[in-house]
Amino acid sequence: MIGNAKELITHARASNQAVPALNIDSIDMAMAVIQAGERCQAGFILQVTAETLDIWGWEFLTETLMGMAEKASVPVALMLDHAKRLDYIRRAVDLGYPGVMFDGSALPLSENIAQTQEVVRYAKARGTFVEGEVGHVARDGEPPEWEHLTTVKEAVEYWEAAGIDALAVAVGSKHGHYRSAKDINVERVGEIYAAVQAPLVLHGGSGLPAELFGAVIRGGIAKVNVGTELRRVWWAAMDAARQSKPREALLSAREHVADRAIEIIHLMRSSGISPQF
Ligand code: 13P
Repeated sequence: MIGNAKELITHARASNQAVPALNIDSIDMAMAVIQAGERCQAGFILQVTAETLDIWGWEFLTETLMGMAEKASVPVALMLDHAKRLDYIRRAVDLGYPGVMFDGSALPLSENIAQTQEVVRYAKARGTFVEGEVGHVARDGEPPEWEHLTTVKEAVEYWEAAGIDALAVAVGSKHGHYRSAKDINVERVGEIYAAVQAPLVLHGGSGLPAELFGAVIRGGIAKVNVGTELRRVWWAAMDAARQSKPREALLSAREHVADRAIEIIHLMRSSGISPQF
């Protein structure tokens, strides 16, 4: 069934858990994560980027994913992830995406606020959920000095001005390459949450140690984005099946991605209370 990101996040917070937001690049990956959600009886957010939509065709991939979400036995909330351009946001909203993430994190704060407000005006008029980012989560391939941990002050300023539904914060995780528990500023998560009381989003969730999830979820993280980990498993399975027919390789990759997605869903429940998403 088509899920609603806001409801999933609200329920997750109420049961001291986070909603897994799983990024996919292909239809077989989408099938895998939906199977995982169904096997765990857990609703989740299914994320896709504009770059992936460009490859598959926006209409084709969106209709396909919406159709898959409708048929799923658990709520699957489709979201456009990391849209840096307003035209991407408008296109997704017009196509009926129930959620969009605007990434103005590389912009000066005032410009990030102004562009996010424009996103919110367009999206909210159509009932679309909006996530925004303040601070800048590090990314593989970027100069290390671009990383900018979110301060409490800018989190408050951005949250109060932007009008978004969920706030992505930079607290030491990284897109792509894994980091360890010591890199994550769990205290900062709690300080930001105490100041804004907003549903917080952790990007770069791949490969973080299990014990960390309980701590950041208790601190206020309500949505955790995971992409690299699923792609890594997909590639490993495809590599191992080089001698097979493509359909057999894809089937193997799908099973491996589903198994890993199940583990990720369990991690999001790691703060202990059983979920009723
Ligand atoms: P990873 O690829 O590091 O898991 O990050 C995913 C993400 O944050 C997508 O927005």
